[in-house]
Amino acid sequence: MTDHDDVQLAYQDSCSGPTLLLIHGFPLNSTMWDAEIDELGDLVRVLAPDLRGFGHSEGSTPPYSMRMLASDCLGLLEAAGVGDEIIVAGHSMGGYIALEILRQAPERVAGLILIATRAAADSPEGQVRRDETARQVQAVGPSELFDTMAVKMLAPENAEDEELTDFLRAMMADATEQGIVGALAAMRDRPDSTSMLPQIDVPTLVIHGRDDQIVPVAEAEAVAAAIPNAQLVILDNAGHAPNLEAPDDFVVAMWNFLESVGE
Ligand code: MLT
Repeated sequence: MTDHDDVQLAYQDSCSGPTLLLIHGFPLNSTMWDAEIDELGDLVRVLAPDLRGFGHSEGSTPPYSMRMLASDCLGLLEAAGVGDEIIVAGHSMGGYIALEILRQAPERVAGLILIATRAAADSPEGQVRRDETARQVQAVGPSELFDTMAVKMLAPENAEDEELTDFLRAMMADATEQGIVGALAAMRDRPDSTSMLPQIDVPTLVIHGRDDQIVPVAEAEAVAAAIPNAQLVILDNAGHAPNLEAPDDFVVAMWNFLESVGE
């Protein structure tokens, strides 16, 4: 546990070595990275926070902002004694935060991994949907959101996989209402990062599931094309949770990239 901005944040930490910061998506938590902490923990030190209001981390009064969530992650690095450059990896909402970290503290970032995410901001219709979702969660609870997301997160071919849907549901069950509503506002108001992509000058890996139903694969292709020298890995039989749906191929892609950054 670490204190930041009066909020206690829980996190997982693997070993010493170059640090990989793994930022989870919405409305999940650091448990989504258990396999990566296991598989990559000997190569790099993995720090995987539960964002405020998710997993074992306390919430705070909404709204949240990307700036606040990025600053939580930077504060965690400080609390964990990580003084060096890091490799930042973010899944979906975690990718929005990773781009915000790059905006706030470019000197800390030696590598970037964007997983099932996008650079564009929400459309006006998307922003209205965020508010509707927040109102619905506050009025009747998050079950409907969780039901929809547990299915949409997976590629159609994996939607019947009970082990996967149960795992996703279990993670979602740990999200607090404050966390959900706060993060919805942060996503609604996030800046468009498209114009910063051509300026990204650190090694970058873009990983995406071919059958992502939340962020179409074309968005990842556009992001990778806009970042000089980015590598793009598209995983078959995977949707919006590629590390859970295609775990072996996912870890190989991460491993190869991390090794190349370390050389
Ligand atoms: C996520 O998986 O983090 C969210 O679906 C991202 C979003 O809603 O924009």
